[in-house]
Amino acid sequence: MIHSAGIITVSDRSYEGKREDLSGPGLKAFLEKNGFPVKYMEIVPDETEMIEEKLIYASDSIGLSLLITTGGTGFSPRDVTPEATKSVIEREVPGIPEIMRAKSMEITSKACLSRAAAGIRGETLIINLPGSPGAAIENLSAVIGVIAHGLDVLRAKGPMDCANGEKEKNGGK
Ligand code: MTE
Repeated sequence: MIHSAGIITVSDRSYEGKREDLSGPGLKAFLEKNGFPVKYMEIVPDETEMIEEKLIYASDSIGLSLLITTGGTGFSPRDVTPEATKSVIEREVPGIPEIMRAKSMEITSKACLSRAAAGIRGETLIINLPGSPGAAIENLSAVIGVIAHGLDVLRAKGPMDCANGEKEKNGGK
């Protein structure tokens, strides 16, 4: 199954045109290289309601399988992306930010400062990433290999065998 993706850059300065958005285009190239065609890109300021509105639009109206946000996950008083995300998702997926932070801690101890969340709204998986281009790719790299399987299960009409891939890797055992 091919899964379409969208990217929402959350940044006051990029929204105001004061800083070029490098994370959005960087993530687009990375996602497409990994088999997720990017059908939607947007820049919003660090405003809870505007983030929520775009998350809902991209999930419900465009029907994307995967929706990535970049930025607004830290400690600044304006950083509200995880709160906006948690208010629109129906089911949280804690393992995704857990492994992103754990893997990123091997790169920088500041990784634990990202409050990123992830969860499912309808048939869309929403994942928060930090704002810097390098941090965004480092975090997404930690989970990119399992996302397609999760989305296949989310969008499958019947039950799916999660063990297949592992069995193949272990010689059928
Ligand atoms: N994760 C990785 N892999 N690499 C990084 O450089 N930067 C951290 C963290 N996660 C970083 C990272 C820092 S310094 C911050 S403040 C938080 O992400 C939150 O970033 P944000 O506010 O841009 O979302």
